[in-house]
Amino acid sequence: MLSVRGLDVFHGRVQALRGVDLDVRRGELVTLVGPNGAGKTTLLRAITGLLPVRAGAVTFDGVPIAGAVPETIVRRGISMVPEGRELFGPLSVRENLLLGGHARPAAERRRSDALERVLALFPALRSRLRQPALTLSGGEQQMVAIGRALMARPRLLLLDEPSVGLAPLVVRDIFAVLDVLRTEGLTMLLVEQNARAAFRIADRGYVLRPGGRIAAADPEAGSGEAARSGYGLELITEEVPR
Ligand SMILES: Nc1ncnc2c1ncn2[C@@H]1O[C@H](COP(=O)(O)OP(=O)(O)OP(=O)(O)O)[C@@H](O)[C@H]1O
Ligand SMILES: [Mg+2]
Repeated sequence: MLSVRGLDVFHGRVQALRGVDLDVRRGELVTLVGPNGAGKTTLLRAITGLLPVRAGAVTFDGVPIAGAVPETIVRRGISMVPEGRELFGPLSVRENLLLGGHARPAAERRRSDALERVLALFPALRSRLRQPALTLSGGEQQMVAIGRALMARPRLLLLDEPSVGLAPLVVRDIFAVLDVLRTEGLTMLLVEQNARAAFRIADRGYVLRPGGRIAAADPEAGSGEAARSGYGLELITEEVPR
């Protein structure tokens, strides 16, 4: 469903991703783990059109999407739950959820169906719809962030560290919802630092880690732009069996 091949992404002059390959097949929950700064968020932002792709290909259902604007990518069926949630704090929970639907315009009826669906997944939000999002607990805010992404009725959901900063019981609840979504057939790519929890529910996993030529003990073995300029590590995705 999603195929990433040979992806190079830069932040200005600094290369963050080099030659990344990754696949997510229909119906799978794939996890991507890696240490701070490995480039996980960079990868998700490149897939969703928020960062430019320097080289390589991203295809979704066989259609190339690298270089497309975020709105187009959302309309094609990819939604993201961003790192740090990025809610609009002063706006109500309801308004935050509806913002997710705006990315993919739909009839009023369809939007209220989507909202009902989100509230069925996260019943705790129902009594909080009129409350400003910033007054919610961290776990509830994460529920809103996931709900907002679901409002666009994605076929592929990308989640960037949804468990970060949450108590274990809350993480369990969030992961239980992901499991429900998976059972319903939603395809997901879950970025996590909590590798143990992520691998428990995932079908497959990748580790994004510094490696290869630049990180090797012998720097003379290095080649290419990063080696010449002396910054950065070669980052590789490595598929690991569950
Ligand atoms: N806007 C930016 N400008 C410059 N460099 C950036 C920018 N965003 C990220 N980077 C750098 O790119 C690299 C990858 O960052 P990224 O945020 O993708 O990592 P991550 O795996 O998501 O880390 P974390 O687990 O901390 O969220 C890091 O070295 C980071 O400092
Ligand atoms: Mg990140």
